[in-house]
Order: sequence, then C-alpha cells, then structure tokens
Amino acid sequence: MLDIQSAAAETPHLIRREDYRPPDWLVPDIALDFVLDPSATRVKAVLSLVRNGAHARPLRLEGAGQEPLALRLDGTPLDADAWRRDGMALLIDLPGDAHRLETEVEIVPETNTQLMGLYASGGLLCTQCEAEGFRRITYFPDRPDVLSRYKVRMEADKARFPVLLANGDPIAQGDLEGGRHWAEWHDPFPKPCYLFALVAGDLAVNRDSFTTMSGRAVTLGIWVREADIGKTHHAMAALKASMAWDERVYGREYDLDVFNIVAVSDFNFGAMENKGLNVFNSRYILADPDTATDADYDAVAGVVAHEYFHNWSGNRVTCRDWFQLSLKEGFTVFRDQSFSADQGSAAVKRIEDVRALRAAQFPEDGGPLAHPIRPEAYMEISNFYTATIYNKGAEVIRMLSTILGPTDFRAGCDLYFTQHDGTAATCEDFVAAMEEASGKDLARFRLWYSQAGTPRVRASIDWEAPGGRARLKLAQDVPATPGQPVKEPMPLPLKVSLFGELSGESFGGERLVMLDEAHQEVLFEGVSERPILSINRGFSAPVIVETDRSAADLAFLSGHDDDPFARYEAMQQLMIDTLLSAVSTGEADHAPVIDAVRRTLTNNALDRAFIAEAVLLPTEAFIGDQMLVVDPDAIRRERDALRIALGSELIDEWRAAYAASKSGPFEYSPSAKGARRLRTVALGYIAAAGVPDAPRLALAQYRGADNMTDRQGALGVLANGTAAEREEALADFYGRYKGDALVLDKWFTTQALSTRDDTVEVVEALAQHPDFTLANPNRLRSLVGAFTANQRAFHDASGRGYRFLADMVIAVDRLNPQTAAKLIPPLGRWRRFDTHRATLMKAELEWVLATPGLSKDVFEQASKSIV
Ligand code: TRP
Ligand code: ZN
Repeated sequence: MLDIQSAAAETPHLIRREDYRPPDWLVPDIALDFVLDPSATRVKAVLSLVRNGAHARPLRLEGAGQEPLALRLDGTPLDADAWRRDGMALLIDLPGDAHRLETEVEIVPETNTQLMGLYASGGLLCTQCEAEGFRRITYFPDRPDVLSRYKVRMEADKARFPVLLANGDPIAQGDLEGGRHWAEWHDPFPKPCYLFALVAGDLAVNRDSFTTMSGRAVTLGIWVREADIGKTHHAMAALKASMAWDERVYGREYDLDVFNIVAVSDFNFGAMENKGLNVFNSRYILADPDTATDADYDAVAGVVAHEYFHNWSGNRVTCRDWFQLSLKEGFTVFRDQSFSADQGSAAVKRIEDVRALRAAQFPEDGGPLAHPIRPEAYMEISNFYTATIYNKGAEVIRMLSTILGPTDFRAGCDLYFTQHDGTAATCEDFVAAMEEASGKDLARFRLWYSQAGTPRVRASIDWEAPGGRARLKLAQDVPATPGQPVKEPMPLPLKVSLFGELSGESFGGERLVMLDEAHQEVLFEGVSERPILSINRGFSAPVIVETDRSAADLAFLSGHDDDPFARYEAMQQLMIDTLLSAVSTGEADHAPVIDAVRRTLTNNALDRAFIAEAVLLPTEAFIGDQMLVVDPDAIRRERDALRIALGSELIDEWRAAYAASKSGPFEYSPSAKGARRLRTVALGYIAAAGVPDAPRLALAQYRGADNMTDRQGALGVLANGTAAEREEALADFYGRYKGDALVLDKWFTTQALSTRDDTVEVVEALAQHPDFTLANPNRLRSLVGAFTANQRAFHDASGRGYRFLADMVIAVDRLNPQTAAKLIPPLGRWRRFDTHRATLMKAELEWVLATPGLSKDVFEQASKSIV
C-alpha cells in the first residue's frame, strides 16, 4: 500500500517500494480557486473523480493539518458519516464510479517556514510541491501517478500582487472591486500535483521568445524583482541554448506557448521544474560580472538547462512513485551535464562532475545512509533527494549510453519517450526501452538499480616481452552496505588504453572492456614495449580503481595520456599516493609531484582551465576518504607541506603563470574563464610559498578586479592567511555587498572555508552575526554547509565543530525540517574517525535524537546515522 504520511504516527513508518499499488481513484480534472492573502488564503478545489478498476475502497485525500471547511459531493454537502480521518488524511466513501468533489480549506503562507506548499518569500507568494507539498495546499491524492488537467484561478490585492502566474497558458484576467484582481491559467497537459505551481507578487520580467523546430513561437519570461532584471540575461541565454540543444540532441521540442521562470530568495533546493512555470532559487538565475563568479555562471546555465530538460524527462514522462525518482533526476542530470560539456570544455566539465561525485556521493555510498539509486524503503522522501539519486543516477545513464553507443542510446530514449509519454513510468520501463532499441541484454545491468555501494576494481598488467602480450587482470568487489551484506559482481564498462613507456604510443587505441565478473583477464597483443595502464578513462564507470602503478608511471600518464580526464586522474593519484605515504611514514618525497606539476604548468599546448584543475591538490576530505581511519591532523600537516613545497619550488613558474593569465576587461568566454581560474590557483600557490609580496599581490587583485571571480578568488587566498590585508579585504567586501544577499553568502562561505586555526571560533561568532539567519536556506548553507566541508575545522579535536552543527540542526528543525535533515550526514561519518572523534560525533547525534518533537526528516537521518 502506498500509504503516505499519517500525522498521528509517533514513530515514522517505512514506505516500501514492494507495497506499490495503483491509485484507487483517478482525478482527470481539477479546478483550483485561490483567494490569496499571506495571512489567510482560501483554497477551493473541485476534483473530478473516477474509480480506477473494480474495488470498494474509499477515496484517500492527503492533507497536512488543514481543516476541511467545506466538503460537497456532486453539489451537496457531504454527510458527516460519509467521511473520516486517517491521521491528517481524509477517507471518503463514494457510491458511484464517477463523482465531483468540492473541498475548501484555509492556509497561512506567511507562517510557512518549511518552504513547502504555499509560502511567502521576499514579498512574493509562491509554491513548492515536490515531493509531498501539494497536500499542504489542498486535500488531494498526493502521489505522482495521479495525473490531472489543471484549471487555476487566483485572486489577490492588485497593488501587492500585480503579477499572477500559474502552470500552462494564461486564459483570462480582470479587475475586481477593492483594488483586487484575478487571473486564470489552464494547463492542457495532465500532470501529477507535485508539478503544480503558482506565483503572485510584484515582479518585473525579462521577455524573449524562442521558435521551436516545428516553427511554433514560445514566449519566454524570467520574473524577478525589478532591481534584478539586469542579472537575468545569462539565464535567458542559457534557456534558449537549452531549448535548441534538446531539439538537436534528443529531438525534444517544447510544448506550451509560454515558458516562465521565477526567482525566489527562500528555497529549499536549487530549482523546480513545475510545468511551464519553473521556480528557482535566485542563486541559480541571477548573474552579472560584479556579483557572480564563473562557477556561478556555469551553475546558472546548468540548473536552467536541468529544469528545462525536465519538461520531457520528468513532466511529459513522470515517475510512478517516489522510488523511481532517479528515473527523472539521474537522466536529467546526465542531460544537463552533457549540455554543459557541449557549451565549453568537455574535459573540464567531466573533471568537475567526477570531483562532485567523489565529494558527495562516494562518502554517502560508503556510509550509513547508503542506498541504491532506486531505494527500497523510506520514512521521509525528502531525505532521498541525494547525490546517489542524482549524480550516481546520472553515471548509470552515462554507462548505458557508453554501452549502447550514441545511435542506439538515442533510439532507446526516443522509444522511452514514445512509449511512456503522458504517463507515470518506472526505472524498469527506461531500461526495457534501452534493451528493446538496442537488442542488448541488460539483465545484469539492472544491478545498478538495486545494489548500493561503490564497486572497487583492482587492475594490474602482466607483460610478456617475448610474445608481445599484455594481460590485464581485473577483479571487482562491491562492499556491503546497510541491508545489503552480500553483493553480486556488476557490469562495469571500463575504457582502457595501454601506452608504451618509451614511445608513448597507445597500442591499438582505446578499448571498451566490460568487466562483469568478479575476476577477468583481457589480452592485448602486439605490445612491443613495457605498457603503462590507463584505465577508467573519462571515468567510464563510477568505481574506485586500485592499481600498482608507480609514481613514475603516473607521472608519465599525467604528461602523455591522450585522454585529458585520464591525465588529470593520473596527477591526482600521484598526489594521493605521495600524501598517503607521507601520512603513514612521516616522510615525504615531493619531487615526483613537483616535476609533474611543473611539466603541466609549463605545457603551452594545454588549455588553462585544464591546467588549473590538474595542478590542484586533492581536498583534505578526499585524502581522508582514502584512509582506513581518517587522521585530519596528519592530512592537513602533509598536505600543507606539499602545498608549500609546490609553491616555493615552482615560485617562478607560478609568477609566470600568474602574469600570463592577467585578464583584460571582463569577458565570459571559455578562454577568459580558464585564465581567471589559473590566475587564482597560481595566486594561492604564491601565497603558500610565503613570499613577502603575496598579500599585496592578493589585495591588488582584490581591489583591481572587474569581476567577482577574481575578487572572491583573491579574498579566499587572503582569508587563509594572517596578513593585515586579510581584514582590510573582508571588511571591504562586507561593506560593498552587504545589501546583496547572494554575495553576502560568499562572505560567510569564504570565512567558513578558511584553513586558519581559528575557523571554528570564527564560524561560531558568525552564527551570531546580525546578517546570519536560520530562516534562509542559502544563508544557512553558506555558513554551516561550507563549514562542514572544511575538514580541518569541522573535525577540530575539541569537538566544538560537532556541537555547533548539532545545535544548528536542532534549531533549524523547528523551522525547516527538510533543510535541517540535510545537515546530518557529516556527523554520520563517525565510523571513519578515531575513537576520540567518533565518540564526540555520536554523542551529538544522540543529543539531536533526544530532542523532543523532532521532525521525521531529522529523525530518519540521525537514527540511521548513529548505528
Ligand atoms: N525536482 C527538483 C530538481 O531537481 C528538486 C526539488 C526542488 C526539490 N525543490 C524541492 C526536492 C523540494 C525536494 C524538495 O530539479
Ligand atoms: Zn531535477
């Protein structure tokens, strides 16, 4: 039974995938009538109901604490004995097979701090319904397999809310007495209620248009506060580029006459793909050179594309139930990653995506919250909007595209869209379409949907010089995860190449090896010199690869591999090997890393964006992930030492790179971005070298910048140091940008990420700063989220970082459980640390769990994290 939350339940109960049952009642049409007011909004709903199959079960309407002010069935008030409550849901016995039910409720947007349902943000009224927010607006079968055509009427004060938007097309509008007005919108495409949206407010619009491949003109609008209109041009360009890209690459065309985007400042997530009315966290819309970094520009384009792409992968074909979430999210992330790769440097984009996967998803997959991309059970679905569902989900789709090849993959997508258009589908439907279109047997591939955990691959090469044969020996192992003690070997598509150590030539180019057993051998012929192994090129499978390659081999690959990702990867591995050996022996041999970095840095054939990525040391957290027991102190010591050595040994090269990447007037182009990236990376190494002019150089970059990338880059470098220039720049930054919330977030983040010893105290103090607030998720994450990513500060042996986080979780949970729950995972990593830290971390989880009135969101994450 897909029994959704019941308010009365004291211990949140588990919803299981295997209990899925089709809906008892369908709602082909719904008419909604809103009388909008921040302090009391009236919502009337008229539902057309159709019994689904032969059964005698009641209609179940989910709610979230509202009172049913009126209930009318086919025009007459419902008898008191015709309905009952089940927790917050209503159960109604219906005599016939088709009915018309009217409900009326009152809700209070201005006190809605959860930011789910209808809420107020910066003078606007807006909605967020995914996953289960619609029930907070009106009584409804709030599940994604109930699809309805929506008619929406809104009425509001015209001066406060001059703009009234909803899904679909605007139908009519008019004025009313008393300074009020109304508007009506119809969405012709049946949709699940999680895609419903409305926005009311005083908004300005950036208008544009797009002509689709079949020649239809679509009116585009990006709606923001008047003062922000100048910051919407990049998002608009990205929207048009996304629309054209989806036509060209996937053959998918937009289907309504209007496409609107609204930016709001209080938002739990990045953005939301509501049909024809995307609602965005303003940080993923607003961008101009003075306030947004290049990374922000890229994120804006990526999220705009992501939400736009959902129109097909999510909206036209939606999810049958929330266990299928990766059907739309994994696929759509893969689509937005591919789009972004096509806009600039594909290699750098791949490096960034893999870095994000390793930073967020690998730890999740190796910890107490591990789950397959298609989970089996949940207490609170909001907790499953995870890096696993999104990013590992995207890797799984990428592997399908690799295994099938571009033509069959496209045919599979076409078939999937044709077969399931207008319906609610499953992950199985997607794989079956791929199987049918390609004729390939994907039976074992389905393990990627059911097994959690990051597979480990061991790879080594045996070379027989006389016969010119090389044997690639592969072994895989999928670690146990909660509830899944024993795993089967999975099919892993590994792109492999062998390079001759003398000639540097590849023997026969790249091969796609399918590793689908526990042990496997692959034979290479004609290998006339000792081969060096390049494996998992392009990160073709989301796995951890262990090899016995020497520092010399890795250095060779970092300079010669013809796959840029593999080059980056070899450099990272060389750095990791060097650091891990220093951590365990206390002695460090920095020379191979310094040589390899010098060669990359001075290689004029490489693009600067790539160089900047390749010469960066792995994060302290990622180094920790490679250790049996994370030792934050040893990691920071050895990493700092290597960083200082790189800075001082290569000081002339860094200065040269810094000077050579001095940018002219701001330009947003791949080459200008690459130059800015390398410039700040070089500045960081110059500062690490401790040369006396470093703070002056950084302050000059800070002051002279005509863009936020250079300015924040310099600020970040200064924030790590002790020079007087640090305070000067931080104070200037605050003074300049205190009126711009998104930029002020950067001020908090920069300090929370500082490598200084006093960061814990600084962060504690910043939490008391007048500009800090728990109510705004961006501000909260800018300080607390950034702090937990700062391994040396968060894992301060005093335990102050843990206590700070637990206090934040408890405080935020009272306002916004969804956002509070997202802060828990760093505490759940206690098993990876020494007993001293583990004990402190567990104590904080216990402290959280002992809090009366905890939300089920936090309860689920904390209780799973403590075992
Ligand atoms: N579907 C959204 C996306 O990935 C995610 C989302 C937006 C969301 N708002 C949310 C998920 C609130 C849970 C709760 O594009
Ligand atoms: Zn999405």
